[in-house]
Amino acid sequence: MKIVIANQKGGVGKTTTAVNLAAALALLGDRVLLVDADAQANASIGVGLINRQPNLYDVLIGASTLEDATYETEVKGLLCLPSSPDLIGVDAEIKGTAGWEYRLREILRNVRYDWVIIDTPPSLGTLTILALTAADKVIIPVQAEYYALEGLGQLLETLKYVVNLLNPRLDLLGVLVAMYDRRIRLSREVYEELRRYFGDKLFRSVIPRNIKLAEAPSFGKPGVIYDPSSKGARAYMELAKEIRHAKVRPLG
Ligand SMILES: Nc1ncnc2c1ncn2[C@@H]1O[C@H](COP(=O)(O)OP(=O)(O)OP(=O)(O)O)[C@@H](O)[C@H]1O
Ligand SMILES: [Mg+2]
Repeated sequence: MKIVIANQKGGVGKTTTAVNLAAALALLGDRVLLVDADAQANASIGVGLINRQPNLYDVLIGASTLEDATYETEVKGLLCLPSSPDLIGVDAEIKGTAGWEYRLREILRNVRYDWVIIDTPPSLGTLTILALTAADKVIIPVQAEYYALEGLGQLLETLKYVVNLLNPRLDLLGVLVAMYDRRIRLSREVYEELRRYFGDKLFRSVIPRNIKLAEAPSFGKPGVIYDPSSKGARAYMELAKEIRHAKVRPLG
């Protein structure tokens, strides 16, 4: 099962979700590949991989194999195909070449992991299209704030475009409320509004605002490893279990 974490809005918790969900699934005993498809390389840094060569950029332009650009992490069972600022050049390198949209999908076609988790940049550009075309399911993290729904229309339009033209099997796995603050009444109200809008596509697991999740990347560790007993870590473990129990595994 290949899951892309997407929202073109910046700072909503995409990377934190990609890193911690991937690590949580590995802690539960699964084999997981974390793919960092953002030139900011935050997910790579979040698992302790800084500026590794070769990386996703080299694989996308055909200068390296997936195997050579895949690295082990501190978490058993969690491997990572990292990013680097090189990835900024990917537009110029591949866009316009025939079938560029399918390139990541081809690269990941025969991988043998239980889960591939793909982090994407805050845009609906080249890398997000590559990731959506490669994936089976999408998770959309949103903040429990007044503007949570703003911009979601544009994202859902992009998903429709990808489904119609590039990847008919792509499906919404769920909308995730990240950075939930229970002390703020507005959070509750926004959660209810999302529930009305998305129904059972809204994850039951909610990620609280938790300082440990924000601190963890500076130690090059996922929050679920950095402080497993923190509320943030426990919420991501719950999310991983919810996703495993949803029996969303591929038939093959
Ligand atoms: N649940 C949380 N509690 C506290 N801080 C959080 C939480 N989730 C994310 N953060 C912090 O908020 C900031 C934005 O989170 P993150 O990088 O995951 O968002 P993003 O959507 O990937 O951002 P971008 O769009 O720039 O890629 C980071 O500093 C992160 O550490
Ligand atoms: Mg990010």
